[in-house]
Amino acid sequence: MTPRTIVRAAFAAAVLASVLLTAPAHAQKAGKRVEDLLAKMTLEEKIGQLNLVSGHHAVTGPYTRSDVRSAILKGEAGGLFNVYGAAYTRGLQEMATTQTRLGIPLLLGFDVLHGYRTIFPVPLAQAATFDMAAIEQAERIAATEASAAGVNWIFAPMLDHSRDPRWGRVVESFGESAWLGARIGEARVRGLQGRSLKSPDSVAACAKHFAGNGATEGGREYSGGDISVRAMRDQQLPPFKAAVDAGARCVMAAFNAVDGIPGVANDTLLRDILRREWGFSGVVVSDFGAIEELIVHGVAENPADAGRQALRAGTDIDMESRTFVTQLAALVREGKVLASELDDAVRRILVLKEELGLFDDPFARSSPEREAATVGRADHFQAARAMAEKSMVLLKNDRDTLPFSTKLQRIAVIGPLADGKADTLGPWAANGNPEDATTLLAGVRRVVGDTADVLHATGGTIDRTSPADIAAAVKLAARAEAVILALGERSTMSGESASRSSLDLPGDQLALARAVIALGKPTVVVLFNGRPLTLEDLDREAPAILEAWFPGSEGGLAAARILFGLAEPQGRLPMTFPRSVGQIPIYHDERPTGRPAGQQPKPYTTGYQDVGPTPLYPFGHGLTYTTFFMGPPRLDRPVMAGGETATVSVDVMNTGPRTGTAHVQLYIRHRLARVSRPVKELRGFARITLPPGGVGIVKMPIGEAELAFWQPEGRMAPPEAGRIEVMAGPDSATLKSIILEYRPSGSGRQAQRSGG
Ligand code: NOJ
Repeated sequence: MTPRTIVRAAFAAAVLASVLLTAPAHAQKAGKRVEDLLAKMTLEEKIGQLNLVSGHHAVTGPYTRSDVRSAILKGEAGGLFNVYGAAYTRGLQEMATTQTRLGIPLLLGFDVLHGYRTIFPVPLAQAATFDMAAIEQAERIAATEASAAGVNWIFAPMLDHSRDPRWGRVVESFGESAWLGARIGEARVRGLQGRSLKSPDSVAACAKHFAGNGATEGGREYSGGDISVRAMRDQQLPPFKAAVDAGARCVMAAFNAVDGIPGVANDTLLRDILRREWGFSGVVVSDFGAIEELIVHGVAENPADAGRQALRAGTDIDMESRTFVTQLAALVREGKVLASELDDAVRRILVLKEELGLFDDPFARSSPEREAATVGRADHFQAARAMAEKSMVLLKNDRDTLPFSTKLQRIAVIGPLADGKADTLGPWAANGNPEDATTLLAGVRRVVGDTADVLHATGGTIDRTSPADIAAAVKLAARAEAVILALGERSTMSGESASRSSLDLPGDQLALARAVIALGKPTVVVLFNGRPLTLEDLDREAPAILEAWFPGSEGGLAAARILFGLAEPQGRLPMTFPRSVGQIPIYHDERPTGRPAGQQPKPYTTGYQDVGPTPLYPFGHGLTYTTFFMGPPRLDRPVMAGGETATVSVDVMNTGPRTGTAHVQLYIRHRLARVSRPVKELRGFARITLPPGGVGIVKMPIGEAELAFWQPEGRMAPPEAGRIEVMAGPDSATLKSIILEYRPSGSGRQAQRSGG
């Protein structure tokens, strides 16, 4: 055994426990069409299927690099990405199916993270809706639009788990709860793939980045953190497992290394867990250039070694590193890669093409008529607006500053984000057109119509504000009855390669805000950003703050409707907002310490000398325009036996002056287990809309799946018998609790051991 093999084997043993390491499991034989085709293919034709070529990097039009067509004609492209547009993709499919020997159609992939042309709120904002039906519908619309433009494969959902808002890609993620991430992963896959993959308005989903890509060090992009087996099993993997169980047909192997082995060469992740343990039969695509990067990681000697490792580990498709297409033929001839391993990869790609119906009709998706009738449809924009309204989080609302009256005569809209169209859409806006975006300024004008003067000043740029800019903004605001301050990040400050070491408002925006707020007018700050920011100073001074995220095509209108009370703020934070960068990572599902804050004589408790132990806004936080009373959780049974589901009920009463929607969140804590468990973990949510004085009951289930975690002997399972604290309330910091006794069948002995 080489040292490298020993490391791998040790990790595999620890992670898998029960899975034997054997030779690669070969894909099962496919149907007759695929097997017949495979039998006819030359070595070069097979390798060509494994190559994925990028058309063009910008996302504004279907321009291509000049070699896309020659790659198709040379049989060196099984798929393309960053190409879209019905007429254009039809031409490409025509070329592949009529001008190559075997006429195999192309996979056409694209990064559609929050909409294709109709742009929905960024994924982190979508998570703030806690509304799986809305998320599924957004993905259905995204798939319907993208597929009409010829796209048959979407590089989403992004399911990286991160607790570090410095990492720019948290904007693409579901936030800090892996359990919520799993629910979102399922919903997204269902939305993208639809009822049948063959349907022309369905696309193959690609869950990415497998695995551990979000566990960065210091939030630095492309850095790999050290991930324990428990963190991998309890946090990183569950969203992927859920996506696979929901039928995702593709998984993208990550750039980062796990236990020293980068994703594309990580056979423990790709073969042992993904394929053997989870039964995944779809394709694995590398992230961009990741196969060649094995050399930079220092685990492959040269391109041939990189290609061999990636294919043998289970990576089927090489995105843009050209390693497979240049190296595999020699590797197969030299016997360094088995012909059967190559066949397995080709078979999986052909099966996906068959599942997508591409052999029956390669042009079904590339329909100019459907594209014209579908893309950017009015009802799609309405859905984007509805989702944006559900995603915005009212962080603060002192003395009922909001909603503003629609009778105001003069309103000032100030700030560098007030009229930024691209910044309204967000960082990964696919084929979205900034010209379609309704900015906050435009939204306010739409909402107040002719009844009020809407004054506007930028107050400088996102990065720089001069004293003259501030003076002009203050002068303008002084003339208004109410002020809306639009502050935040440029959309390109979030997303890939957009990590930040400071989470303060960029530039001098805080100074601008202070000067305007000092006028004492009713003022709301509307924030546009893709991550939790550090807002302690702003929170101290601003009477009201609405977190709008990057809200998409209709985002400015959605925000304006909330500000003037035509819609209610419904979002809840899917990620904790720290007080300072130094508190990171700070999250709701932390593990207990033997010296909890506030429970021992100071200073010998957990925390810092210079900042308190709590975040500024906890996970799940979000205010409404009314107030609710929520009773303690009640259980339909005091004891839950193995295989049973307990139902948790919570009484809710609207105690305020307006109709409103209450979000009730459900958390659990294993009071006693063989391993120390988090102090609370989200395991359910429900909402109820009530008129003033209205009462209602929400019910949330707890089954064994909600109790499961990675057990010391190496399997995902509910624990031995024990006491589970069940907590419910409006956010992760405001909870009431009750104890549920869990007694799986045959648990007498275990119960004794666990003290349960
Ligand atoms: C690199 C990103 O990490 C990945 O998410 C994306 O799908 C590919 N580039 C293709 O654009």
